[in-house]
Amino acid sequence: MKKVELLGLMSGTSADGLSIALCEAAGRDLRVRAFGNYPYPAVLQARIIAAKDLKTPALSALNFELGRLWAGMVRKFCRAHKIAYKNIAAIGSHGQTVWHAPGRAGHTLQIGEASFIAEETGRPVVCDFRPADMAAGGQGAPLVPFLDEYLYGEGEPVALQNIGGVGNIAFAGKGVRTSGFDTGPGNSLMDTAVQRLSGGRLACDKGGAWAYAGTPDRAKVGELMALPFFRRRPPKSLDRSEFSAAFLEEHFKSLLNARRSRDLLATLNLFTAASVVSAFKKFSPRGTKELIVSGGGALNPALMDNLAALLPPPGVRVRSCAGLGLHPLAKEPACFALLAWLALGGRVNHCPSATGARGPRVLGKIIRSR
Ligand SMILES: Nc1ncnc2c1ncn2[C@@H]1O[C@H](COP(=O)(O)OP(=O)(O)O)[C@@H](O)[C@H]1O
Ligand SMILES: [Mg+2]
Repeated sequence: MKKVELLGLMSGTSADGLSIALCEAAGRDLRVRAFGNYPYPAVLQARIIAAKDLKTPALSALNFELGRLWAGMVRKFCRAHKIAYKNIAAIGSHGQTVWHAPGRAGHTLQIGEASFIAEETGRPVVCDFRPADMAAGGQGAPLVPFLDEYLYGEGEPVALQNIGGVGNIAFAGKGVRTSGFDTGPGNSLMDTAVQRLSGGRLACDKGGAWAYAGTPDRAKVGELMALPFFRRRPPKSLDRSEFSAAFLEEHFKSLLNARRSRDLLATLNLFTAASVVSAFKKFSPRGTKELIVSGGGALNPALMDNLAALLPPPGVRVRSCAGLGLHPLAKEPACFALLAWLALGGRVNHCPSATGARGPRVLGKIIRSR
């Protein structure tokens, strides 16, 4: 079977950096051959998170700045892994979401001008995947369940939990109607707390060290789990801003000081895990025996321990997608590599049952190769 090489780029709501995956596709088989993560300096991360309030000239400038930056990161990645541009069949770039407002008169904006990646590589680039779904009546999210169905649609029912800036879960498997929704906080809540308490010195609770060193306030976690968001039925989605600085101020005033930083992180970590487990218990299809975790949260062992500890029903196993040979940060970029390749061939790359769109579409805008 003919093999093709594909490149996928993802810059998620954590705004922590660009993740790049080189994939190899042959028929329905998709494998990640190389992976790289290119962190952003703290100043750029803060600018991206604040981008929703920019005026047009500054937003336009940031759009091109990210496009140029990513083209340089693609060059670095391809040099480091000895990937020849001419061998790449398609490049998919999700872009950086600066605004996402689903709904009847919904709209969404992903930036990071992809023409710079096309110019750098000379290869076709597909970007801007969400608008076509929204034009067809979808929420514009989640798009990754298409990959979940592609990979797991014929097997035992599984739950796929990504823990990026926010958390989101998807269900797939034989006989399962593929669906997905946001579960609650992801890493952003913990990141915001650590950045604030370390005076910007630390970007995240690396290895879950602070969470391990603290004692969680279980009563607080119980109280937060009673918030209306967790009781709502899917489809439901979140903006990064819903679980961040304002949320900390509102609910964690007493723990927001250096003396209690470990207890705060232990509590936020447990809360994040509890929100995932609650979604699994309430909404997973019968017979779902496995929760496969991806995204940066899978790199936080304290979070993985909390998930495993909170996850009865018995017999449900939690594991990182690393156990399946997929780096936790490589799943999303791999997804956009696949979507790009299918879009170039005019094939459906869309899971309307997950987004609520009227029917299957070919998502993405194509920049042709030179
Ligand atoms: N070694 C680690 N220990 C703890 N947390 C980590 C580690 N590596 C990454 N993370 C967390 O993962 C986040 C990035 O996750 P990612 O899946 O890239 O999110 P997004 O898709 O929103 O960019 C970081 O901001 C950080 O909180
Ligand atoms: Mg990221």
